[in-house]
Amino acid sequence: MSSTEQPTAPLRVAVLVASTREGRFAPVVTRWLTGHLGQRPDLRADIVDLAETPLPTVLPAFGEEPPPGTREALAAVSPRLAAADAFVFVTPEYNHSYPAPLKNAIDWHNAEWHGKPVAFVSYGGLSGGLRAVEHLRVVMAELNATTIRNTVSFHQATGSFDADGRVDDPAVDAAAKALLDQLTWWAHALRDAKSRRPYAA
Ligand SMILES: Cc1cc2nc3c(=O)[nH]c(=O)nc-3n(C[C@H](O)[C@H](O)[C@H](O)COP(=O)(O)O)c2cc1C
Repeated sequence: MSSTEQPTAPLRVAVLVASTREGRFAPVVTRWLTGHLGQRPDLRADIVDLAETPLPTVLPAFGEEPPPGTREALAAVSPRLAAADAFVFVTPEYNHSYPAPLKNAIDWHNAEWHGKPVAFVSYGGLSGGLRAVEHLRVVMAELNATTIRNTVSFHQATGSFDADGRVDDPAVDAAAKALLDQLTWWAHALRDAKSRRPYAA
């Protein structure tokens, strides 16, 4: 760092775990990702596991306050999304798209996504969750978020990890590094820009 550069605060990365199924594979993929995140001192991960913090499924009328009784559930999620500089969605593919609990979490929020980058780690059967990711790109554009080009996708996911949850494949490590490098670049660029000028939502 040159003498004129200021040290920057770590970027807060909220990792959304999309699958809430009984017996889900999601924790294996999430642990693998947090291993990569943990190697980067410039990133602080917050795991928002939608199975541990379920949100109500009945949304309020547009522009209305959430009804009483939903506040506690939202309080466990919304402030963490608001505080995030960037997101990683860990998503499987269900019927050529992504799981309903993730759509519900997306729809409960709006400003929390604005002007922030979203990266995707996907998994599934033959497709590796890539169709889920392409659907998410369209949805997140509507919410004024920007999506990261590079992804990590696990085809036939259960066979990709050893018994300790490790992936013995340098290409996968390289893909994770590229994804996090791009996410970091966008998160810094957008955080810096928003500190100078509020996002024009
Ligand atoms: C309801 C449902 C639908 C699925 N649809 C697809 C699909 O369209 N394409 C695919 O590649 N895998 C599909 N799968 C396989 C899942 O992507 C795979 O089992 C994944 O590991 C599920 O993640 P989870 O265990 O964390 O929920 C489906 C699984 C479920 C439960």
